[in-house]
Amino acid sequence: MALVCVEDFEKKAHTVIEKFALDYYRSGAGEQFTLNLNREAFKKWRIRPRFLRDVSKMNMGCKILGENLKWPLGIAPTAMQKLAHPEGECGNARAAGSAGSVFILSTLSTTSIEEVATAAPNTCKWFQLYVYKDRSLTEQLVRRAEKAGFKALVLTIDAPIFGQRRSDVRNKFSLPSHLCLGNFEGIQSEGVRSEMYTGKSGINEYVSSQFDATLTWKDVEWLIKSTYLPVIVKGVLTREDAVLAREFGCAGIIVSNHGARQLDCVPASIEALPEVVKAVGHDMLVMLDGGIMQGNDIFTALALGAKMVFVGRPALWGLACGGQKGVEDMLSVLKNDFEITLALTGCQTLNDINKDMIVHESYYAKL
Ligand code: LAC
Repeated sequence: MALVCVEDFEKKAHTVIEKFALDYYRSGAGEQFTLNLNREAFKKWRIRPRFLRDVSKMNMGCKILGENLKWPLGIAPTAMQKLAHPEGECGNARAAGSAGSVFILSTLSTTSIEEVATAAPNTCKWFQLYVYKDRSLTEQLVRRAEKAGFKALVLTIDAPIFGQRRSDVRNKFSLPSHLCLGNFEGIQSEGVRSEMYTGKSGINEYVSSQFDATLTWKDVEWLIKSTYLPVIVKGVLTREDAVLAREFGCAGIIVSNHGARQLDCVPASIEALPEVVKAVGHDMLVMLDGGIMQGNDIFTALALGAKMVFVGRPALWGLACGGQKGVEDMLSVLKNDFEITLALTGCQTLNDINKDMIVHESYYAKL
């Protein structure tokens, strides 16, 4: 059967991926309230379309951090992509390139920085960074990303420890022995391993033993000083942290709740977006991930002030459905859908999208 929407890819992927890996990918933290909210919250917004505006020619292009992209959707970092398909991060990165977009590589990838760079030389690549207790190891990751031609660092700020994902605890989630964390193979550093041992939840043990939970904004300052790459912070959900990101010199923000995998009952990303945009949107690049399933969602995020959005799980579902080709197909479904949204709202380019084109559902009750 033809896969015509992200949900179709998701359903098919669920029949393909092994259960322990599927549980790892699809889970949110705690009762998964925010996991569902990430999608549901988009439904609280209504689009006010405009007509008779000549939409015979569309241009979805945008410029992000100096890079010309064909459209404002990129692939968010997700860990261990070879659990979805043997092509893993390389397939995903190549697909992002053919769609004219950005691929963010996770620190916890099953393919190294260098391999991804070789496999997808023409893709605009950013590197998601976790800060390890071993600072020289962290610096090595930064140097390697710079050398391999990555264009930005994406520092995840919402994961000093990992959230409690119940199925990972039940499944004692760990990386199967035929896979490894590509960036740490052959690296000599105390306690740092390229495999993930089993225990309660292998990933939680890995993170609490190796990630630096002492991290503060001072370390963001340190990171910015130690690299020539722009530093984006991912995981901002409040105006207070957005203002700090600006004060400390970050190049951008990704409004995100980490796919609802960290703290349950935080707002959906789309709910948190307006306050971040209001606080810093005039002078900073604000982007969003979480809950994007269709073209309308991309439109809503842009109308509320995001300059770009990212999808994490949908790319994993695409990958599971057919490696690089599966991700390309998933992206083209989303891209066509976004194009339809633009045409049916009277927008020729992204500049035509503005905040008057979106209202909260409560608007109609108040009239
Ligand atoms: C996770 C990490 C790896 O959410 O970002 O599992």
